[in-house]
Amino acid sequence: MIIYRARVFDTPDSPFTGGRLRSESDIALVVDDGLITARTDLPTARAAHPDAEVVDLRSGVLIPGLIDTHVHLPQVRAIGHLGRPLLDWLDHCALPEEAKLSDDTYAAAVAEEFLTGLTSAGTTSAMVFGAHFGAAMDIFFSAAAKAGLRITSGLVTSDRNLPEALLTDVETSVAEGQRLIDAWHGTGRLRYAVTPRFSFSAGPELLAAGGALVADNPDIWVTSHINENRDEVTGVAQIHPEALDYLDTYDRAGLLGRRTVLAHNVHPQDRELARMAEVGAVAAHCPTSNSALASGFFPLRRHLEAGVRVALGSDVGAGTGFNLLKEGVQSYFMQQLDPTGGVALDSAHLLHLATSAGAEALALDEVGDLSVGKRFDAVLIDPVAGQPLDVGIRHAGDDSDALAAIFAMGTPGDIARVWVDGELVKAS
Ligand code: GUN
Ligand code: ZN
Repeated sequence: MIIYRARVFDTPDSPFTGGRLRSESDIALVVDDGLITARTDLPTARAAHPDAEVVDLRSGVLIPGLIDTHVHLPQVRAIGHLGRPLLDWLDHCALPEEAKLSDDTYAAAVAEEFLTGLTSAGTTSAMVFGAHFGAAMDIFFSAAAKAGLRITSGLVTSDRNLPEALLTDVETSVAEGQRLIDAWHGTGRLRYAVTPRFSFSAGPELLAAGGALVADNPDIWVTSHINENRDEVTGVAQIHPEALDYLDTYDRAGLLGRRTVLAHNVHPQDRELARMAEVGAVAAHCPTSNSALASGFFPLRRHLEAGVRVALGSDVGAGTGFNLLKEGVQSYFMQQLDPTGGVALDSAHLLHLATSAGAEALALDEVGDLSVGKRFDAVLIDPVAGQPLDVGIRHAGDDSDALAAIFAMGTPGDIARVWVDGELVKAS
């Protein structure tokens, strides 16, 4: 039992549906074996638990653990290329790097670097786009279990339009997928996601093979890409003439449902938005990636109006790093600049997108905010005294402005401690 005394910001009620930032300048969170059992004032917490250790975190700001709904394991060494649109970037930057994960030693080193990237950035849960190699996925799941993060991930599958070394076939993809599901799905904090790379690199038969895995294992997840780039969308229509649109390539394969997370959706049609809302599929919005690859402006307003669930993703390595605070402020910038009229976002929206929306998207009901009954996944933002973020937080007019400063300036260097389920996974 530990009592954390802290300044706490979270968003238990979505600001997109009338909720506001919940901020407390000095409260006590009682955490018992990872579970938040009380949220009260210190004297009350102390009286109830006179022997409990009190940890004073008031030098910083405590927020819920960050949740990344789209990030690529094999691209941690490919972050930061500039000047190429999606298909060119894949050919020149991402895919040659991904092929190197056929080497187990290489895959192990990348897995460690990737998990360090997540943990350092305060990401406690993630939907991780995996590798094209089964052995690399075993290595990653094993490392993720040790790291303690809440990870959903799976073997990436493709049968065309990629380098030969990254291709598979229907039979192999089902056999390897089922083996990985049996080995890892539901182990500790790990879950499995069927992961066709995108319908530009997967034909109808391979997509249907993924759908068969979902039919046989109904509680697994699905993740892929959709409507990111206009050339990609044109190519998908040529490869899948039978489909109504890009979304329908997944839908007719049995891959679309409440446990489906589709990255980008920068260029959706109205029918696709309506269908995503109908089945409860999630759009993972990845704003630095959309900017770096010049993919376009994410139509947040259209998603919200259609009733599509949206959360935030870093999309490392097209995205520029693991920092979801940066993704938050970049989403704000792009909504501000969208010539078709973006949504006016404030700091509570950004926190929601980076925490509670992600928890909702990934059905991680046990986390997402710091209410009683939730597991203690949390991040302490505690910048070095005198640094601009510290100055900004101390001189902010109100808590909403302090949170805006955290999104505008916060980096992994400002993240002092990270907990998952009450366990420290990063301590400065
Ligand atoms: N579409 C297919 N693969 C990828 C990828 O690795 N990154 C992004 N941003 N889009 C993709
Ligand atoms: Zn991606």
